Amino acid sequence: MLSPVCCRREFPTRSFFYFFPACLALLSCLLVLLIYGPATSFHLQSQRLHHTAAGAHVGHHENPVPVGSSGPAGRKYSVAGAALDGVSGVPTSSASGKTPPFPAEVERKREEWAWTKRQPPAGELGKGKDIHREVFHDAEFFSEGYEEMNKTLKIFVYPHSKDDPFAHALLPVASEPGGNYASESYFKKVLVQSHFITKDPSEAHLFFLPFSIARLRYDRRVSVGGIADFIQKYIFDISQKYPYWNRSGGADHFYIACHSTGRSAMEKAEEVKFNAIQVVCSASYYLSGYVAHKDVSLPQIWPRKGTSTRVASSKREKLAFFSGSLNSPVREKLLQAWKNDPEIFVHSGRLSTSYSENLLSSKFCLHVKGFEVNTARVADAIYYGCVPVIIANYYDLPFSDVLNWKSFSIVVATLDIPLLREILHGVSSDTYLELHKNVLKVRKHFQWHLSPLDYDTFYMVMYELWLRRSTVRLPLHSLSASNQLNRNTSKCV
Ligand SMILES: *[C@@H]1O[C@H](CO)[C@@H](O)[C@H](O)[C@H]1NC(C)=O
Ligand SMILES: *[C@@H]1O[C@H](CO)[C@@H](O)[C@H](O)[C@H]1NC(C)=O
Ligand SMILES: *[C@@H]1O[C@H](CO)[C@@H](O)[C@H](O)[C@H]1NC(C)=O
Repeated sequence: MLSPVCCRREFPTRSFFYFFPACLALLSCLLVLLIYGPATSFHLQSQRLHHTAAGAHVGHHENPVPVGSSGPAGRKYSVAGAALDGVSGVPTSSASGKTPPFPAEVERKREEWAWTKRQPPAGELGKGKDIHREVFHDAEFFSEGYEEMNKTLKIFVYPHSKDDPFAHALLPVASEPGGNYASESYFKKVLVQSHFITKDPSEAHLFFLPFSIARLRYDRRVSVGGIADFIQKYIFDISQKYPYWNRSGGADHFYIACHSTGRSAMEKAEEVKFNAIQVVCSASYYLSGYVAHKDVSLPQIWPRKGTSTRVASSKREKLAFFSGSLNSPVREKLLQAWKNDPEIFVHSGRLSTSYSENLLSSKFCLHVKGFEVNTARVADAIYYGCVPVIIANYYDLPFSDVLNWKSFSIVVATLDIPLLREILHGVSSDTYLELHKNVLKVRKHFQWHLSPLDYDTFYMVMYELWLRRSTVRLPLHSLSASNQLNRNTSKCV
């Protein structure tokens, strides 16, 4: 039922209601035309330099932006790419000699700002000098937050006994997790032994829902079809037994899942989907169940020990490498365009040569969307020092609100697969060297350790959770008041 008192706004007259917004819209249009009209040509021109110099732009607020190319085919940068790059709000000017559209002083400031934005000062930061400025959006901000997080973040894990019939899916695994979906089990195993755990829920910032989707999947009592019911019941149980779920509708709760079954696991628990923090590998803007900025993109990592042999960029003879099954139209398109190419090696099915040797002898390693936007290939490439090329539209790249993916990877839109060679050749050798060096610098962020090391994947996920903690702590006793408020506002919907 609509409640007229709280929902309808009365305006003095009808005509004012239409006239005022129309005037505003017209004025804004005029302003935009005046300001951006003259700036556009500079903008596009500098974008061209910018793109070839630094690969694709992946900021915090947009999808991975495809790299266009200015190859011999004469194809210009896609307008979308240029426009998105301008999200920074800085239409950069180039040295083309034309009169800048702004007074000299403003122009100088803008250029200065744009330059420092693009070129973070090189150097190290943080305890043990482990943070490399050039791979972060804002290393100082990260470093300060990280130390505070490390000192104060507290997490409560819903307890389960070893006798619980679902203990195998609720408690951490005994052995060291391995394989494709290891990230899910690894995180839980490391978390429960970490100094972030508290037994006192009243001091917890966040509450961990410890079920493992990957393990429920293999439980015959549950199996794939029953996971959604299992989760629904689990949430019902904890919301009856404890007061914490109801307090925020689940907003200070999180779970972790790497298997793609997680996509549909929350279908019968909408509060988990829309309120809780979902730390998942299948992090696609395209999925309705994934909410960027609320949820966290978890890297899919095949755990490996130590570091790989170092192969200098000059010793990497192949231009690009991909191997995988043809389980998506994107991969089919890749194979169609590049099979039998002398520079871009694309394999489907079983490899006759070693996978790691291929990653070690290629300049670029392609991560191409399969069933999901994510695979372990990005972390594989990083481990072997190969610059990742991401061809997976809508992929919310792991840690992209912290790490500047533009500094160590290239993002290519599916549409641009036929231009792949031009795009990769368009990366100058200096830029490649930079990308390659930076890949080695981000390596530590894409590794699991049973005893976690600072800035490794475990700590990066903890930092992402820290960013999403609520700064408002709702007291438990105000529960009935907030329920009352909810009921009143829900009338208006
Ligand atoms: C974070 O905390 C752990 C455990 O107390 C400690 O070993 C580590 O050095 C800390 N890291 C930083 C960067 O303060
Ligand atoms: C939480 O809310 C549900 C649904 O409104 C209710 O049935 C349950 O008793 C509440 N839990 C607690 C601990 O008050
Ligand atoms: C909600 O509505 C009830 C009666 O309709 C009223 O008594 C109560 O004060 C309202 N609560 C709030 C928070 O506005």
